[in-house]
Parts: sequence; structure tokens; C-alpha cells
Amino acid sequence: MTPLRLYLFAATLLWSLALSSAVSVEPRTGIEFEDKLNRAKLEKVGLRSKGPIKVYAVGQYGKSIFVLKMAYSVNAEKLSGALMDALKPRCEELGCGDQVEEFKAFVMDALPNGAKQGTQLVFNTAGGKVTLSVNGKPASKISGKAVAKAFTGIYTDANAVCKMKPVQTDDSGERDPEMMATLGVMAATTLVIFLLVTKPDPAIKVSELNIYPVKSCAEQSVSEATVTPRGFAGDRIAMVVDANGKCCTSRDKDKAKLFHIHADLDVDNDNLTLTAASAYYPLEVDLQKSAPSGKVTHNEAPGEMQLADYGNVAAAWLEIATGIAGCRLTGIGEDYQRKVMVNASQGDAVPNNGDAPVSLADEAPFLLTNEASLDDLNSRMVARGKSPVDMRRFRPNIVVSSGSGLSAWEEDTWSKIRIGGTVEFFVWQRCGRCTMTTIDRDTLDRSGEPLATLNTFRESVKGQRNFGMHLVPDPSTLVDGKAEIHAGDKIEVLEYNKARQTEWQENKDNGGMAPTE
Ligand SMILES: *[C@@H]1O[C@H](CO)[C@@H](O)[C@H](O)[C@H]1NC(C)=O
Ligand SMILES: *[C@@H]1O[C@H](CO)[C@@H](O)[C@H](O)[C@H]1NC(C)=O
Repeated sequence: MTPLRLYLFAATLLWSLALSSAVSVEPRTGIEFEDKLNRAKLEKVGLRSKGPIKVYAVGQYGKSIFVLKMAYSVNAEKLSGALMDALKPRCEELGCGDQVEEFKAFVMDALPNGAKQGTQLVFNTAGGKVTLSVNGKPASKISGKAVAKAFTGIYTDANAVCKMKPVQTDDSGERDPEMMATLGVMAATTLVIFLLVTKPDPAIKVSELNIYPVKSCAEQSVSEATVTPRGFAGDRIAMVVDANGKCCTSRDKDKAKLFHIHADLDVDNDNLTLTAASAYYPLEVDLQKSAPSGKVTHNEAPGEMQLADYGNVAAAWLEIATGIAGCRLTGIGEDYQRKVMVNASQGDAVPNNGDAPVSLADEAPFLLTNEASLDDLNSRMVARGKSPVDMRRFRPNIVVSSGSGLSAWEEDTWSKIRIGGTVEFFVWQRCGRCTMTTIDRDTLDRSGEPLATLNTFRESVKGQRNFGMHLVPDPSTLVDGKAEIHAGDKIEVLEYNKARQTEWQENKDNGGMAPTE
């Protein structure tokens, strides 16, 4: 160790010892809460979980402040919906039932980018209103004594959504002033040294993982997922077919309601829960119970295939939820086999010597996207007077976090990566985007964007508008055909694609305005 490193190490150690009594930890997530927020003392800590998923840790400060720290990424719709569901019975009792929808909209509006892992929401119910700030930014408020009381009840009454445990604080007296002064000097010196010698963390990280159990339906965000050769376990294992056995896609106007069906797969229990605002009750589908389907066709696979058919109850439920007459729920049974194909308009050879299975997804077992690329696209959209879009438009399985060491569109340059230190992926080809991306996931309106903006700077000579990369796992890095990856995992770039790397550099030098091929 150099003297500098030794000094930094000692300073960090002492400082963390001095501060260790100033935070409390929610034990199941390891999420920390400061002992004080402004002047309110941390009273209780709890964990909101759903089944095996740890959704967020919550800290209660004084009587009226609730800090929610996300342990898991969920979209705004889901989180605001869950909070609304918790508020509703309490409001009905306290006479604020008419504010429940308003409350949901208030939370939705505060989360334009969803509630990703690490997001912090502070609800303050003091003074006859509920205010919310997200990651330190004040968002909005909703007035009313009853609604403030109802919200408080979510975490404090007899039916609280999670068990709140009192925090043990050490009130054994003031800290030694001399020690604090010494530490203050050391901390200031440490800060200066850090600013002089450290670079930002160059690690490229996974920010989000998604599966889409039913093709064309809403995403299921997960904090960990199992990589298998044909895609994540549970990804695109089912699809809706019309009365003629043709695969239904939300690209078609009369089938766009598929986007509003939430399919939650319980991987361990092998059952699927479908929910939709347009259906009166959730549907539980036991994936073990099926009969062979008739011949069905998939939009990207040649010929016909036979899948499993999950029965009349599921079919009737889907018909009501989507309005697609005679539709049925089908899915991957035991004998399912489909292989990745070369896409004529991309021309890239299939990795792993052409041998790559695929789920019911369109083209590839995995799609990876980069938040920095979305940020770049959105800034170009805004410059053209268009509204920005969110990542749901692109239906990725793996999202790379912005603010990590990856520039916009740099994912194009990769040819082999490793995630979470174990599993390796061939970065096969760019994903050419279709009209699916032009449909607003909430309103189902179609605007022609973001394709029109992508056309201005990402159109290839063959006419595709690319966003995201198709990945194929390297089977030799799986153990028994499997590997787990997690949100937060590190991504290492093992090999670059020279041709794509040259294009990327040229585009960057040209302000990104040249075609990509
Ligand atoms: C789905 O799994 C749950 C257990 O998590 C079970 O209670 C329920 O009966 C299952 N439903 C079906 C349709 O299998
Ligand atoms: C090939 O890619 C284009 C987009 O670039 C897509 O529209 C088409 O469906 C793909 N074809 C196959 C067979 O995957």
C-alpha cells in the first residue's frame, strides 16, 4: 500500500466507525436509513414485499414522514396502483374515497421514469396534506386531512401493508467533540484527495431486467432472472392467437389492448396470473394443464407449429380483456423447438455456429438496450418538438444503466460481453425497430415516433431503424443450461466488433447524424 492509499483507508475506516451509529439498516434488503431526516427521528423500519420479491424498504420518521427506498424496479403504473389499492379501503372508511384516483395520478406524475431500484420517495403527511418528493426533488401534493390520515394508516394501522419494527437507537450521549474535530479535518482532506485522484466508476451495470411471459403483453420487471439458451426463464413462453391460429401482435390496431394485460409469472409455481383493467377479475393459469393446440403460426417463424393450449377459461377471459374474437392462449410445451434465423435485412451470421434456440420472441433470445442511447434519442426528440418516450417502447430484457461508463449507442460496438462475472453473451446484431415502438403504452395512441426521429440519424442503408442489440448466450458459460443474473450486475466487454466500432466512432465524430451503416 502506498502512504496515500493507507491514509485514505484509515480515514475511511475511522469516519465510517464514527458514523456507524447514525444509520439503521433494514435487515432483509441491507437498505440504510439515516437516523434523522431534517429534525425528525427515525422511529421504525419495515419491508414491503410481494411474494418472494422485496419491493421497497420503508422508514418512518417522527409520526408523519415515510421514506420508501426501492429495492426492486417497478414501473410508475404498478407502484402508484399498489399504493392506491392500499389507500382505498382506508379512504372509504375516512371519507376520502373520491380522492383515491387523484392520489394515484399524483404518484404516477411524480415518477416519469418509473420507480427504479434505488429510487427514494418521501411522503410527508403533516399539516393535513400529503406531499411527495422523489430523489430529493419535490413533486407534488394532495390536500385533505382524511387522505393524510389514510396514507399514514398504510404503514401504521392494524392492517399495515408491512410490519414496521422500532429502531434501536443508541442515545448513550454526545460524540466526543475532539474526536469529531479530528475526523472533520481528516474528512475534508480525504475529500480533497479523492477529488484529485479518483475517476468516476467506469463499471457498466445492469439497471433493469424484464421478462414478457406473454408475447405482446406488458413487461414483468424482475430483480433477478435465469438465463437459458432460448431466453430468460419465463420470457415469451406464451402467445395469444386469433381464431385462425395466427399469432396476435399489439402492432395491429384492433389488438393493441394486449399491451394492457399484465402477465405475472410465478416461475416456481409454474402459474401465470393475468390482470387487466378491462377484465373484472385476475385470471390464474396453471401452465401444467394444457392440451395440444391446433396448428398456429408465429409472425417471424416459417410454417406452422403446434403449441400447448391453456383452455377455454383462459380463452374467454382474453376475449373479454382484449376484444379479439375467438382468441386463445397458447404456449411453449415440452416439444417446442425453434431456432434463431439470419435476418436478411441485417445480414449478421447467427452466433454459436448458427445454433441458437429461441422462445416465442420475434427474433432473438435476448434484447439489450442502453439508457444513454434512450437519453440521446429523447434529447433529439425534444429538439424536434416531440415528447420523450420511455424504455417500455423498446421491450428490452436487459437494460444498461446510464451514468455507468457507457456512451450513447456504444453497445453497437460490442461483440462479446460477460454479465455478473459468469455468463457470456454474443452480441449478435442490431435490432431493427417496427411500429410497435410508436404506440404509447398507456393511451395506445400512435404518433409515428420515435421511428421518425430514429430515421434522422439511425437509419441503416437497408432501411432499418436500430435500437438495442440482440444477444445470444454462449452455452459453454451456462451450468446445466442455466445462469442467474441480477439487476446491478456488472457488464464486462470481452470483444469488440471492429466494423461496428469504426461506424460508431465515425458517427460520434459527425455528431451522430450519419447513417449507421
Ligand atoms: C398458483 O399458485 C398459487 C401459489 O402461489 C396457488 O395458491 C394457486 O392455486 C395456483 N393457481 C393455479 C391455477 O394453479
Ligand atoms: C428482420 O429485421 C426486420 C427489421 O430490421 C424485421 O422487421 C423483420 O421482421 C426481421 N425478420 C426476421 C425473419 O426476423
